[in-house]
This record gives sequence, structure tokens and C-alpha cells, in this order.
Amino acid sequence: MEKLTFKASSGSTEILIGADWKSIIDKMDLSRAIIITDHNIRSIYGSYFPRVPVIALEPGEGSKSIDTIDGILKELLILEADRSSFLLGIGGGVICDITGFAATIYMRGIRFGFVSTTLLSQVDASIGGKNGVNLSGVKNIVGTFAQPEFVICDQNMLATLPEAEYASGLGELVKYALIRDEEMLGFIEENIDAVIAGDREILKRLIYRSVEIKAEIAGNDEREVGERRLLNFGHTVGHGIEVLTGLPHGVAISHGMMIAAEFSFDDGLIDIAGLGRVRSVLERMGLLPGIITEKGAISHFILKDKKREDKNINFVFLEKPGKAVVKMVALQDIIDKLAAKDY
Ligand SMILES: NC(=O)c1ccc[n+]([C@@H]2O[C@H](COP(=O)([O-])OP(=O)(O)OC[C@H]3O[C@@H](n4cnc5c(N)ncnc54)[C@H](O)[C@@H]3O)[C@@H](O)[C@H]2O)c1
Repeated sequence: MEKLTFKASSGSTEILIGADWKSIIDKMDLSRAIIITDHNIRSIYGSYFPRVPVIALEPGEGSKSIDTIDGILKELLILEADRSSFLLGIGGGVICDITGFAATIYMRGIRFGFVSTTLLSQVDASIGGKNGVNLSGVKNIVGTFAQPEFVICDQNMLATLPEAEYASGLGELVKYALIRDEEMLGFIEENIDAVIAGDREILKRLIYRSVEIKAEIAGNDEREVGERRLLNFGHTVGHGIEVLTGLPHGVAISHGMMIAAEFSFDDGLIDIAGLGRVRSVLERMGLLPGIITEKGAISHFILKDKKREDKNINFVFLEKPGKAVVKMVALQDIIDKLAAKDY
């Protein structure tokens, strides 16, 4: 088992990678814990849960709502949860986002921690202290910054993940290599079959490196006013693709990364060999299935992006595989670039 500490101004988190979640949980004092999970996780892993109250939600993005939070808070009152209570989220990014948000607003903040069960949450969503839900179709628009006490990432739990959810995590994993670590990219390229097959040791190494990169970047810029924006590589365009096509998050983001890499080439940043390398790794991982969107539809989403600043947006470009840069550009510029590529 590997350990990493994520340090930010709102607190710090112990991240345990390659751990057996059951034995770690067994050793914890969870007498005041309340578990938040979803029905899928409960049906697969519920028999190993500690004997504490469980709040099980409908699986999926639809649960990330104020109504769900309202229901959880009322349930916490019924369970007589107090300042000594502990919320243990067992699930993917949806459960982590919900648990963190509920924990930070109930009684102005109680303790919480996660057992992270999807590849996407192990490399990204459970780390960094962003908690929140969606409102009126706008993603993550209501939330808090607060750090869980711990995040347990057990790669054995990934064996039960549906294929599309696994692919989703692969997209975010490749993102870390593309924005920050060419050596990691080389390792992925060399071991691509093992990565796709979910080899436990290879995954453990890649998850560790992804978390390390996230900790470096987000630890210094918890509230995303600077370097943390690098983590949005592929997301400005990818979010639009996700909503329009219904593709899993990481697959939609992979398209967004490819388009951002093409823009980078057009602007004289990444060279042709680098661009080819980005395309090749994403294609080999099956992360670039063809997409069909109505012309102008992606731009429509970009205009509504909550991260835009008036008529401008911080867009993430690639200088080369392994090095991303953030540039403030006019929204219209991105819209024109998309139109030029027939999106
Ligand atoms: N807070 C952040 O920094 C951050 C970062 C990235 C993404 N996110 C959020 O994460 C969410 C997506 O998270 P996700 O991709 O983990 O999806 P998810 O939590 O919806 O899980 C995906 C599906 O897999 C099932 N599942 C989870 N673990 C399983 C397992 N081990 N075996 C079998 N089935 C399992 C779930 O029940 C669900 O149906 C989005 O809402 C996104 O906004 C947050």
C-alpha cells in the first residue's frame, strides 16, 4: 500500500493507494459513522460494510441534486447525527461529491472520508476537496471546498466496474500524463494492453502518479485561481460533448483533449509529431469513438460555461505531450476554431 498526503489550505487528506479497503475500515473506529453509498455499490459490497447506518442513493448523476442533499440532511437529523458523527462515502465521483457536500454543511461541518470505487474517482474526483451538486442542469454549481480525512483507493474494487465507467477513468488518467508527465505517457504507451485490461499493479502505479500530480497542482491552488485550471484540459469542449452525446465523462473529455491539442497545433504550440502521439494514445485506448453533434451545438455549451470570464475563457493548450499551458482567450476565438473544424 502506498500513502500520499494531499495538503491544502482547508485541510489535508491521507490517500491510501493499493489498499485493501475492508481491512483498513476494520481497523478504524467507525462507531459514529454513517455510510453514504449508491444501490449498485451496496448490492456488490454491502455485506462487507461496517454495521452502521447506511443511506443508499439512486446511482448516477441524477442524484447530484439539492433534493438529494435535502433528503440526506433530514435522514441525518432522524439518525441524531451530531458533531461527533462521521460520514463515510463509499462510491464513485457522484457519491464523493454528495458526501463531501452534505458533511460540510450539516451542523456547519462534520468529519468525512471516502472509499473511492471508480477509476475516475480514484485518479481525480475523490481528491482535491471540491464537493458539490448540480442545479438547473448546471454541473457542480453549488458546493464547498473541504478535504476528506482520508481517501482509500483499492484497485480490486475496479474489477466490478462496468466497461464504460472504466473507460471514463482511463480518459482522466491519460489527461494527467498529457498535462504534466511525458514519462508517464511513455509508460502508458508501453503498457497499453495491461492498462486497458486493468492490470492491478500497473494501475496502482498510474493512479499513484495521477494523484501525486493532482496533489502538486491542486494543493497549491485549492480554489482554482491559477495552476489548477490545467486540470480542465479537454473539459471546456468535452463537457459540451458529454451533454450532447451522452458519452461517459472521460470519453467525452478525451475528444475535448484531442480538439484542444488540434487547436494547440493550429496556434503553433504542439508540433505534428506530438499531435500524432496524442491521437495515437487516445485511439489505442478506444477513447476516440466517432461523434456526431449538430454544427454549433458545442459552442452553445461553451457560451454557458460557468468558468468563462465575461467574453473570455481560460483554455488549456498543449505545448507538447506532457506539458500543458493555460491561456486566456476570447470565447469567440474558440467558437470560430470549432466552426472551422465543422463542429
Ligand atoms: N470533485 C471533483 O473534483 C470531481 C472531479 C471529477 C469528476 N467529478 C464528478 O464525478 C462524477 C463522476 O464520477 P464517476 O465517474 O465515478 O461516476 P459514478 O459515481 O456515477 O459511478 C459510475 C457508476 O458506476 C457504479 N459503480 C461505482 N463503483 C463501482 C464498482 N466498484 N463496481 C461496480 N459499479 C460501480 C456506480 O453505481 C455508477 O452507476 C461526476 O458527477 C463528476 O462531476 C468530481
